[in-house]
Amino acid sequence: MRAYWKLKSDRDGSGIVLENMEKKIDEAGTLESLEKIRVEIFGKKGMLAAEFAKMKDIPGPEKKAFAEGLNRLKAQLLERFERRHAQLEAEEMQSRMRAEAIDVSLYAPNGVKGALHPVKDTMDRIVDYFTALNFSVESGPMVEDDFHNFEALNLPKNHPARDMQDTFYFSDGTLLRTHTSPVQIRTMMKRKPPIRIIAPGSVFRRDYDLTHTPMFHQVEGLVVDEKAKVSFANLKWILTDFLHEMFGEVDIRFRPSFFPFTEPSAEVDISCIFCGGSGCRVCSRTGWLEVLGCGVVDPNVFEAVGYEDVSGYAFGLGVERFAMLIHHIADLRSLFEGDIRLLEQFR
Ligand code: PHE
Repeated sequence: MRAYWKLKSDRDGSGIVLENMEKKIDEAGTLESLEKIRVEIFGKKGMLAAEFAKMKDIPGPEKKAFAEGLNRLKAQLLERFERRHAQLEAEEMQSRMRAEAIDVSLYAPNGVKGALHPVKDTMDRIVDYFTALNFSVESGPMVEDDFHNFEALNLPKNHPARDMQDTFYFSDGTLLRTHTSPVQIRTMMKRKPPIRIIAPGSVFRRDYDLTHTPMFHQVEGLVVDEKAKVSFANLKWILTDFLHEMFGEVDIRFRPSFFPFTEPSAEVDISCIFCGGSGCRVCSRTGWLEVLGCGVVDPNVFEAVGYEDVSGYAFGLGVERFAMLIHHIADLRSLFEGDIRLLEQFR
């Protein structure tokens, strides 16, 4: 028992010192001072070690009782130490949390707000329009093969778009997709009609000037259903409504055009939003701005993906062009220079 040990140690007074240790532990005010006390008591050269060293001088019959008493006291001190340690740890955590607390309700007059990049913002608006009409959003790889990017889209082997001058090829024959139309092919090959999708994403062409960058973004759309359900009239309605949503009350005209993957094909113009149609520098004095390509899906495309007895329409647009028109941006390249001053205008 402790009493026994106290009795024993009273012989040389060291028991009193050890007793005091309990008090010392309880009074330690910080983890740091507690650590010093731990070394003093439990360390290799600490008091307990010194007490245990005395054992060799204690006569045989009393040795066992002495050791037991000392071990019991050690256990007691250890428990005391651990309890105090846990207390101090919790206290220090509390005071650290108090010290590091921030007041999120403080008024910050000069806080800098971020802004969506105009391309991202425009892309979101386009995607929102079509998803509201139940189009689903599809994506595909940017590194494409010849079949999905060209062949299945009825782009013949000698088509200029396939030229090294226009397309980025890799040595294994794959290429950076030149449009997001391959996503249409991929979707049709893994799914049965009806199809109603848009394919937003980055595309790549060898081009660099005021209105062209080697990477830009497209949104393409595709609708496929039974023959009686899809017509050029549907296409015309949806694109007219879409363009009014994006550009407000503009005039819209469909101009006959050509794409290998659609027949008939059209390009869509809006009346110039800068001069209202009277002719200016932006519309090259024509009064019109071209904003979309579209058409009724060519039967050769359906044949390539194994579709029969269906009809469809498709359209494609350049997101940067929309962003430039909506935000009156003169140089397309400024959209990709990462100059924070450009973004600051769109907060
Ligand atoms: N894929 C065409 C392009 O990149 C756009 C387009 C899509 C035209 C669908 C018509 C129909 O220019």
